[in-house]
Amino acid sequence: MSNLFLCPEHILQGGYFNATLRKLQEPNTSIQPHNIMYPVFLLENEDAMQAVSSMPNVFRYGINKLIPALEELVKQGLKSILIFGIVETLPKDPTGTSADASENPVIKALPRLREAFPELLLACDVCLCPYTSHGHCGVLTDKGVIDHEPSVKRIAEVALAYAKAGAHIVAPSDMMDNRIKGIKDALILNGLQNQVSVLSYSCKFASSMYGPFRDTMKSSPMAGDRKCYQLPPGSAGLAARAAARDVAEGADFLMVKPGLPYLDIVRQTKDQFPNHPLFIYQVSGEYAMISKSGDSKEVETILMETLTCMRRAGADCIITYFAPLILSIIKKQ
Ligand code: PBG
Ligand code: ZN
Repeated sequence: MSNLFLCPEHILQGGYFNATLRKLQEPNTSIQPHNIMYPVFLLENEDAMQAVSSMPNVFRYGINKLIPALEELVKQGLKSILIFGIVETLPKDPTGTSADASENPVIKALPRLREAFPELLLACDVCLCPYTSHGHCGVLTDKGVIDHEPSVKRIAEVALAYAKAGAHIVAPSDMMDNRIKGIKDALILNGLQNQVSVLSYSCKFASSMYGPFRDTMKSSPMAGDRKCYQLPPGSAGLAARAAARDVAEGADFLMVKPGLPYLDIVRQTKDQFPNHPLFIYQVSGEYAMISKSGDSKEVETILMETLTCMRRAGADCIITYFAPLILSIIKKQ
């Protein structure tokens, strides 16, 4: 016997030589359908369907095309979607009037989705940027800076409208201080606090990885950027304070966005608030990168490794454009 073996506690490989043992070494990292939320882009034209050039296999759907597409996925186990409305003929104005107009595609689609899929969890992104003429996520002053109070008021109105139309979850993505409280107050005043929850985009960074999404949504700011409300990519401190702010305001669920380059923030947020389910948004730029990472087999392997690592870092649910592919992979396993 060589003295190589004198330190038995450093012999690790006996603990993971077998697939079942390996599973035991990866607690809380399994990927089940309830760990996945699927973002969908909803068009005004109910019969339209458009491919998104910057995102392979991603489409924008009118509701008459979305329902059949979802039927297939719900059969495969899909549990939740995150809805983004896109307007093409409705007007864009300084306060985002079309966000909660009766003709808004999300407002119109929610009752139909509730009816078609009674078990499907319906989350709605709440933001003004797809509906404002200036493309910012709030209302602006004459000087062109965010006007805080009217912004929060508008965002709460829009969230309430989606809640009344049938959303189970409203998800404000603007990052304004106080909007979670504004939304919660509106839900309470309308007796909806026990039927609608708030998923806060709490730790949302001013990332360069939203490019394909902004093309898809036609929601880039006309002037300036979003650095005054989204977080600087290097700041873990502001991320912790933003999560604390949103928990204090009543957020039900927290989010880190983007995902992969920010897994330290995911772990930090989970440790900070272990009792709040934590979401990751695997954003459009991450989707584009992984989609181009190799042949279809390599993409699947890289994707599943990425999701496992997100779960390990503390994510409970991952919002991902890969949801259809993931469901098919889960089915194969
Ligand atoms: C807008 C919003 C964005 C995303 C979700 N909601 C873009 C942004 O903040 O600029 C990004 C999603 C993605 O890139 O996949 N409030
Ligand atoms: Zn926005």
